[in-house]
Amino acid sequence: MRILASDPIAEKGLNILREEGFIVDEKTKLSEEELIKIIPQYDALIVRSETKVTARIIEAAENLKIIGRAGVGVDNIDLAAASKKGIIVVNSPEGNTIAAAEHTFALMMALLRNIPQAHAALKEGKWMRKEFTGYELRGKTVGIIGLGRIGTAVAKRVKAFETRVIGYDPFISEERAQMLGITLMSLEELLQNSDIVTMHLPLNNETRNLINRERLKLMKKSAFIINCARGGIIDEEALYEALKAGEIAGAALDVFSKEPLTESPLFELPNVIVTPHLGASTKEAQINVAIDVAREIASVLKGGLAQNA
Ligand code: NAD
Ligand code: MLT
Repeated sequence: MRILASDPIAEKGLNILREEGFIVDEKTKLSEEELIKIIPQYDALIVRSETKVTARIIEAAENLKIIGRAGVGVDNIDLAAASKKGIIVVNSPEGNTIAAAEHTFALMMALLRNIPQAHAALKEGKWMRKEFTGYELRGKTVGIIGLGRIGTAVAKRVKAFETRVIGYDPFISEERAQMLGITLMSLEELLQNSDIVTMHLPLNNETRNLINRERLKLMKKSAFIINCARGGIIDEEALYEALKAGEIAGAALDVFSKEPLTESPLFELPNVIVTPHLGASTKEAQINVAIDVAREIASVLKGGLAQNA
């Protein structure tokens, strides 16, 4: 059987599949039309977030049995089209949790201490100390939206910095929140009370533009917002307006509603720091997710079950 990896996937994972006797082709940066042309040859497809697995690609996939997402979010895969065709979709939900949590933490500290701006200024020959006076994390209230794997890992890390952690997640129990030492509240209360708000929930029809103009207005003028989950959860136009008007203090963004993105009005604001969807980009995480997804694909192609369908 033949497997296509259409985004860069760690060799350690792909080798598991080769050792199982599957033929694995690595062809990245394909257009939708190119994928439609070659997809009938394949029994399995492995992607990260770059490949958009559209209904047209799925319709053309005559032999496809499984799509494996080396990562968490499956918002780049047309799930309805896959399910209509009986194609299993699996993700690898655990392998990049720490990478994404640590990146969120790195963004948080960079935002509070103006590290990217100070770095850029100094490299341009400007020794600016007063302008880049920052804030401490200690004593701040951190609001976490989405208390799953990454949200929980972020909570543990920021607690070590003597913060108060509050959370919003309609799907977790009061007992679980208490166990984690997180005070649950409504989204509106969280936005009103947080010094730093960080997003850790999936993008879907319910969460698209969850943080809109009205909700941004609830935040403190001194508050920061971080999105290391998915572009589209925060309305980017509304965020730009809020930052420009001084309604919030700053933002750190790893993800965008359209990716790749190299130009945006947000990039022109001095209080916005950005990274190009690097949350899961550590050597460790990429090996973990590649191994997990390879095991799932091998199991399904050999007639077994998928754990993360
Ligand atoms: P998870 O499934 O463990 O947790 C998601 C949490 O969001 C769950 O607890 C769920 O109850 C909660 N949730 C769902 N809808 C919600 C809503 N409307 N409001 C508040 N909470 C809601 O997933 P995870 O591993 O923690 O990952 C979270 C998201 O982070 C993923 O969906 C993915 O899109 C994103 N992610 C990004 C990167 C990156 O590279 N930047 C890396 C990994 C994951
Ligand atoms: C994810 O959802 O796991 C992230 O987007 C990570 C990625 O694949 O880049």
